[in-house]
Amino acid sequence: MIEFQNVSYTHSKGYGVNNLSMSIEDGGFTFLIGPTGSGKTTLMRLIYFDLFPNSGIVKVNGLSSETINRKTIAMARRNIGMVFQDYKLLSDRNLYENIALPLHVLGFPIRDISSRVDEAIELVGLEGKENHFPDELSGGEQQRASLARAIIKEPDVILADEPTGNLDPVASFELVRLLETIHETGTTILMASHNYNLIKGRGRPIFELKNGILRVR
Ligand SMILES: Nc1ncnc2c1ncn2[C@@H]1O[C@H](COP(=O)(O)OP(=O)(O)O)[C@@H](O)[C@H]1O
Ligand SMILES: [Mg+2]
Repeated sequence: MIEFQNVSYTHSKGYGVNNLSMSIEDGGFTFLIGPTGSGKTTLMRLIYFDLFPNSGIVKVNGLSSETINRKTIAMARRNIGMVFQDYKLLSDRNLYENIALPLHVLGFPIRDISSRVDEAIELVGLEGKENHFPDELSGGEQQRASLARAIIKEPDVILADEPTGNLDPVASFELVRLLETIHETGTTILMASHNYNLIKGRGRPIFELKNGILRVR
C-alpha cells in the first residue's frame, strides 16, 4: 500500500506537492493526470524515496519516510519498477543486456537471469529483437523494453512517469494495454500522463494534480 498523509514538498524553485493525502491499495491501477509542472514527477520521486517530504508522511509497503534509512531505501526500491518518458535504456547495450542488468546488479545466477529475461521479452512482445541496440528499436519498442526492465525484478509496484509522452497514439494505447496485462498479475500500477483521452473510460481511478494539489476524479 502507498499512503501519503498531508505531504508537502517544495523544490528550491517553485512548488512540488502541497498538503497531499491519498492512498493506493495493493494491486490497484491508478492514473495520475495533470499538466506539465503540476507535481506528477515529484509525487513519484516521493514514492521512490528519492525525495523526502518537508512535512507529512509517505508510506510504501510498510516503510515510512520518517524512519527509513539507507538500507531500507534499497529494500523499498527493490520492490518498485520505474518507467520514464525517455526510456533511459543504455545505448551501448543491446535489448537483452538492458533488461538483464537489474538482475546482474542484484547478483542473480546467470541461468536464472536468462529464463527471466526471455519471459519478460516475450511478455512485452519483443522476441527476436534481443540483439538490437536501443537506436535500432522504435520508440514504442524502446518503451516496451524499458517496461520489461522494470518488471524483471518482479516488483510489487510499477511507477510509470509519462511513459507515453514520446509515443504515437497507437503505441501509447498498446503500452497502456501492456500495463493492464502486468496489472493482472497482481502488480500495483501508478501511471502519470497529461493525456486525458488516453486514460479516460478505462474504469480506473484517476488522481488529478493541479499546482501540487490532488483531487480524485
Ligand atoms: N529539481 C527541481 N528543482 C526546482 N524545481 C523543480 C524541480 N523539479 C520540479 N520542480 C518544480 O516543481 C513543480 C512540479 O514539477 P514536476 O513534479 O516535475 O511536475 P510534472 O511532473 O507534473 O511536470 C514545477 O513547478 C517544477 O518547475
Ligand atoms: Mg514529470
